[in-house]
Amino acid sequence: MQLLRRRVRPQHLLAVALLGLAALAASCGKSPDAAAVGAPAKAGAIKIGFLVKQPEEPWFQLEWKFAEQAAKTLGFTLVKIGATDGEKVLAAIDNLAAGGAQGFIICTPDTLLGPAIAAKAKATKLKFIAVDDQFIGPDKQPMKEVHYLGISASKIGEAVGDTLAAEMKKRGWSPAETGVCVITFNELATARERTDGATRRLIAAGLARERIFGAPMRTADIPGSFDAATTLLTQKADVKQWLVCGPNDSAVLGAVRALEGRGCGPEKAIAVGINGTDCIVELEKAKPTAFHGSMLLSAKSHGYQTCEMLYKWIKDGVEPPPDTRTVGVLITRENFRQVLKEQGIRE
Ligand code: GLA
Repeated sequence: MQLLRRRVRPQHLLAVALLGLAALAASCGKSPDAAAVGAPAKAGAIKIGFLVKQPEEPWFQLEWKFAEQAAKTLGFTLVKIGATDGEKVLAAIDNLAAGGAQGFIICTPDTLLGPAIAAKAKATKLKFIAVDDQFIGPDKQPMKEVHYLGISASKIGEAVGDTLAAEMKKRGWSPAETGVCVITFNELATARERTDGATRRLIAAGLARERIFGAPMRTADIPGSFDAATTLLTQKADVKQWLVCGPNDSAVLGAVRALEGRGCGPEKAIAVGINGTDCIVELEKAKPTAFHGSMLLSAKSHGYQTCEMLYKWIKDGVEPPPDTRTVGVLITRENFRQVLKEQGIRE
């Protein structure tokens, strides 16, 4: 299902960060990883947890920001939890249940935890929705019985490939002299679908399969991608120009830094990310870098809409659709300020 973007009242990120810090401070002594915001807790009131795998990443902070908006607008208590491993996830679900919550949204730190999380939710009688990363069942297939909201990963990856191919053409680079650095994280299905999509479109645009090089990340963050790209660039020192893609902005940014370390700036490399939220500082730099742009995803759908769906499920028994997919839109140095403003991400 495609979702329409809705205009929201812009709020300053700093204010949100301060609010988050205040909420964190207020929760000290309860749990180091949880922070409650939104409506004050009343007996019988609705309380919803929002667990994310990488709380330090701008993407997840934005999901939380939009979840906070939902809590304020709809009038429920939101508990934000950084759940970076399986133990923390299972303990957090127990704590939520003990604290009177009726449900949670989760981006799991490991999709293979799916069956354990679903079992824990059942035991504690909590409703839940998986966001971003779809649970994988014991048969290694997506757990379609678990309600999920995520991106149309293949399509968005394909749009990255098309953008890179168009930029390559614009600069008159020959595909024979160009190499593609594909930063991968294949253990995560949504990440694999994104890089597979980009690769498919680059091959369709004339890049030979032998010119496309995978660089697997050990950890899905900037240092992980920096290391992966460095290894690849050392092996392929003869490549004249580079195109770069990866599962998200961090993956692409690490590669851009590794390229810079080898003297490859915007005149020799073109990189396109996904998320559009973790690259804002990069796009704001006075001097252009190889980071050409990013597919901006709808953090509002992932943060606000998931909460709204769960809230209605808890309050009115309205079950959410089993599978909701969101779209992306290309932002570059030319349009990012305007688009981020329209989406309520920046003032
Ligand atoms: C995954 C990635 C995040 C973000 C979301 C979007 O969880 O790790 O960076 O791209 O998907 O759904």
